[in-house]
Amino acid sequence: MKDEFTAEEKKGLYKAIQSRRDVRSHFTSRPIKDEVLSRILNAAHHAPSVGFSQPWNFILIKDPQTKSKVKESFEKERKRSSKLVEEPKKSKYLSFKLEGILESPINLCVTYDPSKFGPFVIGRSTIPKAGLYSVCCAIQNLWLAARTENIGVGWVSILSNKILKEILELPNHVIPVAYLCLGVVNEFSSKPDLEKEGWLPRLELRDVIYFEKWGKKENLTWRNIQDFITTNLDYP
Ligand SMILES: Cc1cc2nc3c(=O)[nH]c(=O)nc-3n(C[C@H](O)[C@H](O)[C@H](O)COP(=O)(O)O)c2cc1C
Repeated sequence: MKDEFTAEEKKGLYKAIQSRRDVRSHFTSRPIKDEVLSRILNAAHHAPSVGFSQPWNFILIKDPQTKSKVKESFEKERKRSSKLVEEPKKSKYLSFKLEGILESPINLCVTYDPSKFGPFVIGRSTIPKAGLYSVCCAIQNLWLAARTENIGVGWVSILSNKILKEILELPNHVIPVAYLCLGVVNEFSSKPDLEKEGWLPRLELRDVIYFEKWGKKENLTWRNIQDFITTNLDYP
């Protein structure tokens, strides 16, 4: 095959996927180089998108006033959402560090603009949310590219979209999808923070795969892969 990945390249991709983390602290004071930031944004911009609509925009933020306003919204929403959970989980939830808005040198809001190349977008008339899914693909590209550049990325969703829209002066039809905090880090944790804290465990791969129909975990014609997903998950 033309343009096949070498073994090293494959390793690199799987390494990025396995070792990517949501980062909320331990950002260093080293600035993100413009050329690195551009590469990461370009990785995001090359994500798949429904009907090739590329419905994303990336708002780069470093103004401390903007960050403070966003942080205020975070504090408010964190308090509000903590009322939805009983003790002892409530105190545990409130003890977690769940954002790095002020500590990270760059904040980035990724938005969804449903009007881009619209109103008819191939593939979106039946599943309108496909536009939003496309933006999420861009965010994942960015997250993985950032990992390879030693840039930590933390996604903050404990925010009011209404307030965010006001702060960033988004047009009414544009939806904020992700508010991300970016900064250079010295290391990435080997496991998700929420796993380390005992909040939730990582599920086994075999427990999230069904064969042919919802809930079917056994199937003779799939027996070979059943062995692999249970015992043999080595990377090439
Ligand atoms: C849509 C989305 C929203 C998230 N919102 C938050 C958030 O508000 N605060 C936070 O600390 N982490 C947030 N995260 C990060 C998750 O907690 C994290 O991805 C998960 O615990 C697994 O850890 P890992 O990303 O390090 O593998 C979010 C992740 C996604 C995909």
